[in-house]
Amino acid sequence: MRNSDAELVEKTISLKTRRNAIILAHNYQLGEVQDIADFVGDSLELSQKAAKTDADVIVFCGVHFMAETASILSSDKIVLLPDIHAGCPMADMITAEGLRERKRELPGAIVVCYINTSAEVKAESDFCCTSANAAKVIESLDAEDILFVPDQYLGHYASTKTDKRVSLWPGFCPTHIRIQPQHITNLRQEHPQAKVVVHPECRPEVIALADEVLSTGGICRYASREDVTQMIVGTEVGIIHRLRKENPGKKFIPASEQAICPRMKLITLESILWSLQEMTPEVKVPEEIRLKAKAAVDRMLEVV
Ligand code: 13P
Ligand code: SF4
Repeated sequence: MRNSDAELVEKTISLKTRRNAIILAHNYQLGEVQDIADFVGDSLELSQKAAKTDADVIVFCGVHFMAETASILSSDKIVLLPDIHAGCPMADMITAEGLRERKRELPGAIVVCYINTSAEVKAESDFCCTSANAAKVIESLDAEDILFVPDQYLGHYASTKTDKRVSLWPGFCPTHIRIQPQHITNLRQEHPQAKVVVHPECRPEVIALADEVLSTGGICRYASREDVTQMIVGTEVGIIHRLRKENPGKKFIPASEQAICPRMKLITLESILWSLQEMTPEVKVPEEIRLKAKAAVDRMLEVV
């Protein structure tokens, strides 16, 4: 760690204590951000943590929809997103108005929205889900017709696990589609002992080549298994930091070095300290939207 980083970390930790704040970080955050966090996890784990914390302030090191979900679940807390431009391009591929239109075309369909959506879209949905539980949520529904938004690939993957009719929204993650089937086949040849583990946001052709399809939290748990010593990792490269840190001696090979989510990398040690000093930018959801969005998130949390 550079001297200036050590100073930043020290100042941040002392201010965090004074503010009674907790730092939550997603598995794709920069290594130094993960290292300063109180908890690092996937979207489901982070929302569960946000719902339970007794801190007054949540510093959310992730993207906008994640901070919004924390605010939806913990409206009495101040939720800070250290860089307000840290949005998820996939979440921006659907609006509440667009969803209302599609619902009119599919009357009777139950709407399941991926957690990678705005609060307004969640408020228009019946159930929320994450990459860790999409198939489980869909399977639990007492309905045959499902409209899944916005990730067509996660929706498609979940649909292969159920007999229900699943209509898809044409959204996708610009980071995960960079992972190509050829990357996996080439790396498998180079590392024949390695397990191939991919995120369900990957293309179906990539998913077809994987040994396991897991959320980022699931990937971390899988990596800790004794029988796993080498892993080809088909998701955003930020997760490699945590995998190596928690599993010294094991080998982790990114499926593609190009699988970078630039918005996740906007959060830095500097922006976290600044955010705690200025208590901004705060993410807050208007109460009417929040209550409707919370109903969809709560229904998910009851299933998992
Ligand atoms: P996880 O919930 O699996 O961490 O995924 C979040 C995400 O944005 C993946 O791109
Ligand atoms: Fe959104 Fe993809 Fe970035 Fe995840 S990796 S936050 S889905 S753009």
